[in-house]
Amino acid sequence: MRRLPTLATAAALALLAARPGTAAEPLRVCLDPGTPPLSMIRGERHGIYYEVGERLAAALGRPFQVYWWPTDLGKRAIRLTLLADRCDVMLGVPNVKGLMGPRLLVAGPLLELGYVLVLPEGASLAAVEELRGKRVAVAFNSEAQNALATLDGVVPMTFREPEQALRALAAGEADAAFVWEAPVPWIEREAGRRFSVIAVDGPRLRWQSAAGVARANKPLRDRLDEILQGMRAEIAAIARDYGLRYDGRIAWSWLPATAEQRGELPLGPSPIVRVAAEAPAGADGQAIAERGRDLFNSVLGCAHCHGPDAVGPDKARDLRRMKIRYRTGWTDAYWEAVLEGRLQTRSGLVMPAWKDTASREELEAILAWLTDLQLSR
Ligand code: HEC
Repeated sequence: MRRLPTLATAAALALLAARPGTAAEPLRVCLDPGTPPLSMIRGERHGIYYEVGERLAAALGRPFQVYWWPTDLGKRAIRLTLLADRCDVMLGVPNVKGLMGPRLLVAGPLLELGYVLVLPEGASLAAVEELRGKRVAVAFNSEAQNALATLDGVVPMTFREPEQALRALAAGEADAAFVWEAPVPWIEREAGRRFSVIAVDGPRLRWQSAAGVARANKPLRDRLDEILQGMRAEIAAIARDYGLRYDGRIAWSWLPATAEQRGELPLGPSPIVRVAAEAPAGADGQAIAERGRDLFNSVLGCAHCHGPDAVGPDKARDLRRMKIRYRTGWTDAYWEAVLEGRLQTRSGLVMPAWKDTASREELEAILAWLTDLQLSR
């Protein structure tokens, strides 16, 4: 029989508990690697949600562990991570009950986000009608595009991404941009100038983000809800620190009353909600992993350099060993390597960058497959 720990062993246990990966279970937080300033894998600071995640972990007395995972796939991203128990919390899901049926619980809100009219610095407007005769840049298939279509006399310019719409404004090719607000500070930094940012209040133009937790983890959701209540001012300060702000505010009831009453989800803005509508239903984790294997072995030809089924010709290229090599940071290493490639390797071999060759969805499928292949020693 073991006796109660002595003081010395208790101290040793406490030390162990303070180290990630030992006694205290880390809080595994899923974040999108490429949505500045909300969360991003690159740069010195990793974004608003990242910093909120760190604080949530600290408040829970658990080590913080990030799991980078693109949310382009909307609901599928949630299914593959949170609901497959790869992380405990996903930050940035829409604060909408029932998004994934009863399987997803939300705690929050985290941030209020929405569409903004972005104008050259110093410019302002009192009503949307003042946009008549102006060139207004919007993102394709966004709620802003739908709203703008109801206003005659404007000259719409449509882009694939909100960032491109903002760059058109910075270059003077557009007079205004009507986009969701998150990328604004980023493009301001890139262009080295400040815009005037006007919040637009109207149906489906504003929403809240939240922390998503799997249903099985209800006690965690309840704790997070409590903690987040007390953190609202702090979160707002972090958001401001990353450059999110409004220089003015207008209202626009653009939607016919009938549609408004139906209370439909805003489908434009949040990366998650945007694609939730398009993600093929019922594509479960198994099918995605199968697809990943096929992409790896034949379609994209990764196997050519990494060996069939990722059993590498040498240790450095054996992708089943990534978890051994990088431990919890292995998915970061994956995204870093596949998106940017590796020019400098010890062997002198080159890993090509795939960011322009393969889609996010393909790279995600490969990661899903590789996850199941990781060796433990
Ligand atoms: C032309 C050969 C080549 C092809 C094709 C290739 N890779 Fe690589 N890959 C490499 C080399 C070389 C390395 C670096 C190994 C090293 O660090 O020595 C590497 C590294 C990686 C790493 C980082 C491994 C680690 O442990 O740091 C990942 C992940 C990866 N490749 C994934 C892929 C995927 C996915 C594909 C297909 C979409 C692919 N590679 C296609 C040559 C290739």
